[in-house]
Formats: sequence, C-alpha cells, structure tokens
Amino acid sequence: MKPRAGTGSVTKSVTKKLYIKTYGCQMNVYDSERMADVLAPLGYGLSDNPDDADLVILNTCHIREKAAEKVYSDLGRLKPHQQRKAEDGGRMIIAVAGCVAQAEGDEIMARAPQVDMVFGPQTYHRLPEMISKTKRAVGEKVLDTDFPPEDKFDHLPEERVRKGEVTAFLTIQEGCDKFCTFCVVPYTRGAEYSRPAATVLQEAKRLVADGVREITLLGQNVNAYHGDGPDGREWGLGRLCRALAEIDGLARIRYTTSHPRDVDDDLIAAHGEIEKLMPYLHLPVQSGSDRILEAMNRKHTAAEYRHIVDRLRSARPDLALTSDFIVGYPGESDQDFADTLKLVTDIGYAGAFFFKYSERPGTPAASMREQVDDAVKSERLSTLQQLLDSQQEGFNASMVNRTLPVLLEKPGRHADQLVGRSPYLQPVHLDIPDSRHAAMIGTVIDCTITGLTGHSLFAVPVRDGQAGSDSTNSSNTVDSSNSGSPTPDSADRGQERISA
Ligand code: 5AD
Ligand code: SF4
Repeated sequence: MKPRAGTGSVTKSVTKKLYIKTYGCQMNVYDSERMADVLAPLGYGLSDNPDDADLVILNTCHIREKAAEKVYSDLGRLKPHQQRKAEDGGRMIIAVAGCVAQAEGDEIMARAPQVDMVFGPQTYHRLPEMISKTKRAVGEKVLDTDFPPEDKFDHLPEERVRKGEVTAFLTIQEGCDKFCTFCVVPYTRGAEYSRPAATVLQEAKRLVADGVREITLLGQNVNAYHGDGPDGREWGLGRLCRALAEIDGLARIRYTTSHPRDVDDDLIAAHGEIEKLMPYLHLPVQSGSDRILEAMNRKHTAAEYRHIVDRLRSARPDLALTSDFIVGYPGESDQDFADTLKLVTDIGYAGAFFFKYSERPGTPAASMREQVDDAVKSERLSTLQQLLDSQQEGFNASMVNRTLPVLLEKPGRHADQLVGRSPYLQPVHLDIPDSRHAAMIGTVIDCTITGLTGHSLFAVPVRDGQAGSDSTNSSNTVDSSNSGSPTPDSADRGQERISA
C-alpha cells in the first residue's frame, strides 16, 4: 500500500525513499501511516513502488493462512530489487512489520534471509533506533516483537493530516482479551488497551482543525473501550462519542470493529441520541448456531445477538448492520449452518464478510479433531454469499429515490464528477463542475439518489448551489486476502475488516 503523503511539518527534507505495503484491516492502514510519520523526520518520503526504495516495510496480517502466505511470496519478489540496488552501490533495507512479524518472527528470519528487520505492532515507535542498528552493522538483523510495558502512543509523533483528506482513522483501543478460539489477535496484538479519552479528544480536534470531517474510531474490539476520562472516571465508547460529537466542524463519527458482548446500554442510547454517529454498524456474529458460538468462545448466544440488534434498532430505526461470518468451523454440522442462514435471513444485513474457517497455529480451534472438509466449506460459503449478496443488493436498491446526506470527499475518476459517501458508506457519484469542487469537498449536502451500479450510487443535489452551505458544519493500495464479499466501504477503501 501507499500510505497517503502528509502535510504536517517535516523537520528534514526528503532524502530517502520509503515503500510501505499494507495487508489486512484498517488498524494496519492506520499503523502504516503512523510509521510514515515516525520516519519522515529521518528524511524518508513515501514512494509508490519498491523498485529502488531505501526502506521497504511489509505491514502484515496473520488473521487467515492466505494472508500470511502472501507475505512470503512478496518477499521473494523483492529480492531482485534488493540485489539490483546493492549492485548499484546502494542498500535496500527490508522490514516485516505487523501481525505475521509478531507471530512468526524467527521463521521469517529463517525463511527469508533478505529481511533485515522484523518488528511487531507494538514497537514501531522504536523504528529510528532499529534502522540505525541495522545500518551500523551490515548483516545484523533486528527482531523486536516485545509487548513493551510503556504506551506506544506516548512515543509516537502527532498524527499528520493527509493533504485534502476529509476522513481519518483514529485508533482508540488495541488488543483483545476475548480469546475467540479461532482468532490470533489476542496473541499478535496482545492484551486490551484503551487510550486516555483526553488524548483521543485532542487528536480528534487537531484532525478537525486540519479539515477532517469524519473520524472512524478504530480498535480490534473498539467497544470494549474503557479509557481514563478527563473527569477521573472511566469512559466507555458511548461517553467518548458524546464528547467527540461536541467538536465543532466534525460532521460524522463511526467506529469499528465491535463485539456484541460489549454493546452496553450507554452505547445503545448514544446511537439514538447522537446525530453525528452514523447509522451503520459492523457487528460480527460469526455464526448463528449456539453450539458453534459456544465452541468459538464468543460469549453470546444467537438470541442475545438478536436482542442487541433489536435494542439498537429501537434506538436508531434507520441503523444498517454488517457482520463477519465463518463457515466450516470445526464440528459445524448442516444444522449449525442452517441456523446461520436463518439468523442472516431474520436480521437482514446491508453487507458482510464471510470466510472459510482457516486453521491458525497456536489457537485452540486449530487442534480440534472435527475439521470440516474443504469442499463442504466452499459449498457453504457460496450459499451464504448468495444470501448476503442479495441482501446487500436489496439494501442498495432501497436507496433509489431517497434523499440522503452525502459527505463530499474527492473528485471522481471522470471530469466534472465528485464522489462522496452516504451515511451507510456507499460511494455516491454526483455530476458537479470541476470549478466547484474545492468549495464543495468536505461539505455534507442532501442528495436525491437517482440510480445505482454495483455498490455505487448516483445522485443529484436536492438544492443546486449548495456548495459551502453545509448545514451540519461549518488511499492506499491495500492488499486484502478477504474471501468474503466486500461491504461498500471496504470495496472502495480497499480494506478488510478488523476482528471482534
Ligand atoms: N478463519 C477464518 N476467519 C477468521 N477470522 C478471524 N480468524 C479467522 C480464522 N481463523 C475472521 C472473523 C473476524 C474477521 C476479521 O476475520 O470473521 O471477524
Ligand atoms: Fe478478539 Fe475479535 Fe479475535 Fe474474538 S474475533 S479474539 S473478539 S479480535
């Protein structure tokens, strides 16, 4: 991936080329951008390709087997570039970061000798130190996969707002204590940690001051957020959203990814009360069978999930839901799978991700005896896909002729076209002359949806000449090894979902 070039102050001019490729979820996208921020003062500027980069970072994902294997094939492809650079008298440092690094540090060093540095998601504030160590001694490898006791966020430079971006990610929580039996996250990202609310608010205010209109709060289990509040009390996610909603100029708040068990009364109330909190929630259920949910250690039943959804929809009737599903978890019977289809039919989703269960070494499910045959997994995946695709198509089609507020984000691919987002993250295309783009980008305008193609909507402004009259107001190449169908945001923003 290419993290977006920043506009913040850089103390040193660009003298070296940095190429970062990001695999996986939005948390990794955020981390890659922060790594670029850490490296900018050392003279590293982002480059679009690895060809003669001075530093290549592969920011990896370990969530499923395919995601991890891609890293090794990309490392193989980098080797000739590294050799060519050495023949020309230069040096290309290759680093593997992220969750594969955390889980397989020693194996990477052994399998891919061209790699100079391997570091986990909790250590990248120490990048300058690692680079200078690598540079001092050719041949010396750096492996840093600690979970340091100090707060990584305290040691990172301020987040730099990317030029012209009106949407931003903001990590508020990391790690997970849930230990679902299929999932590597508690092992690769470590124990749950919440950033203090004051720090989050300060960062959000700075983003908004620099032109950001929509903030997506990130965390592997974001609604387990329990940060220290400025009032000396512990704040949950609902409380944090209320405080963020008070920031003038911030038009939209989103958060991802949530665990059903951590949806509390205050968060449900927040959905009913905070206009700026978008009515679009990713709430993974994974399975509709109580037997499988228990085996997965999900800590909720299908009925409890339905009840939470009912309560959320009572608080915010226009709430649209998306979810993740795993098919072929060890021991999943035809009846278990039928229970999943029933739950999907009853809930009605606006989009979803669905995956074949993939054995992750070290997780409890990997050693279960009743592994499901791959042909059965494929068949179930395709049945589930058909159902979820038809729900998503129905949801998108239901937008036609409706009036929706659209946050205008950027020029479209064609001249005289602007692209924005509906509250449900669908890309919305509008015919607007180029001359008006600068004034309109970053505003929220009411639009009538006139048609759709695929996941995109087409629209016309309700009132022409709305530029600047915003009533509420005032990218990356990502490699996704997702086997499910993309939800509107992931399709366009090129990412896969964080766990929970
Ligand atoms: N196999 C398949 N899918 C998985 N996920 C997490 N671990 C696995 C696994 N071992 C899926 C879950 C999670 C999403 C991010 O990835 O559905 O919510
Ligand atoms: Fe935690 Fe989500 Fe992984 Fe479960 S699936 S262990 S809640 S990150």
